[in-house]
Amino acid sequence: MKIEINKKTKIDRIDFNNLDFGETFTDHMFVCDYSNGKWNTPEIIPYQSISLDPSASALHYGQAVFEGMKAYKDVNGKVWMFRPKENWLRLNKSCERMMIPGFPEDYFMKGLKKLISIDSEWVKPGDGNSLYLRPFIFASQPSVQASPSKEYKFMIICSPAKSYYSNSVFNVLIAEKYSRAADGGVGYAKAAGNYGAQFYPTSLAQEQGYQQVVWTDANEHKFIEEAGTMNIFVRIGDTLVTAPTNNRILDGITRKSAIQIAKDMGINVEIRSITIDEIIEALKNRMLKEIFGAGTAVVIIPITGFGYQNTDYKLQSIKDSYAIRLKKAITEIQYNISEDPYNWRIEV
Ligand SMILES: Cc1ncc(COP(=O)(O)O)c(C=O)c1O
Repeated sequence: MKIEINKKTKIDRIDFNNLDFGETFTDHMFVCDYSNGKWNTPEIIPYQSISLDPSASALHYGQAVFEGMKAYKDVNGKVWMFRPKENWLRLNKSCERMMIPGFPEDYFMKGLKKLISIDSEWVKPGDGNSLYLRPFIFASQPSVQASPSKEYKFMIICSPAKSYYSNSVFNVLIAEKYSRAADGGVGYAKAAGNYGAQFYPTSLAQEQGYQQVVWTDANEHKFIEEAGTMNIFVRIGDTLVTAPTNNRILDGITRKSAIQIAKDMGINVEIRSITIDEIIEALKNRMLKEIFGAGTAVVIIPITGFGYQNTDYKLQSIKDSYAIRLKKAITEIQYNISEDPYNWRIEV
């Protein structure tokens, strides 16, 4: 790996207490190009603009995938990643679906570790602070032919983050018209276009006062699938229910971790389809205790209300919240506060 250190750090100009998510980037980035049928020697270089031919394939046909993960600093200054191999596996699943060549595991892992250690001053300790890591690949071949590119760029950029969605009201709109994904499509892949396609329906929901959309199945809009960047859990009585992952739903790493920890806490977890009607029925019978989202950005976030068929439903806050217990257990592993019986925490 070639490394060029940035001699002009900008860290002194950053106000770490006032960060807008994803708008500030560290001093370095990781770059690896694919050409002539192979990934070339990776580089870490100063963070900078890149130049692209206007015909670069990703700009026209959206052959682009990404990952989202975080590094955390403990009180002793050690930096940790959380289940990074899962991100590598998922990246390559996304690549396969989008006809992008898979990225080698050792380039991914060594690239992440080296990049984070070079920019480790940017990872701040303390609850909710992290360094958001964004690996991504896009088709860079200059060509408007509607066929898979022969050239790609893999990059990792890093952005210091505080926990977001900190505000305690979190209302979602249950999708009744638009869909995020359909059977046989690319919903399970972290394909760039999956996200761009949500902006319009999400902005309509936000105009009505909701923070996000919870997507339902594209056929009937009856079954709960997931939110824009989170999987969804519903607690009915003392049972936690979450939809099975399938070819429409992203296989979230926070979701998997929450399922494992919940089971180990003795919580009954059901991985099954759940309809919005069942949720409303449970709410009316006072059996609906919690709904929450799970994803890297927020870890776990309680949903305080939802809109469906022009009616708003409110959830009461409860004392023994699974959302709070699971968030605490996951973040204590991430920040090296608790034991990690699962070996999920990887030192940088
Ligand atoms: C569509 C979607 N669902 C769920 C998730 C949660 O996945 P993870 O827990 O791996 O961040 C994400 C975020 O990456 C996402 O983009």
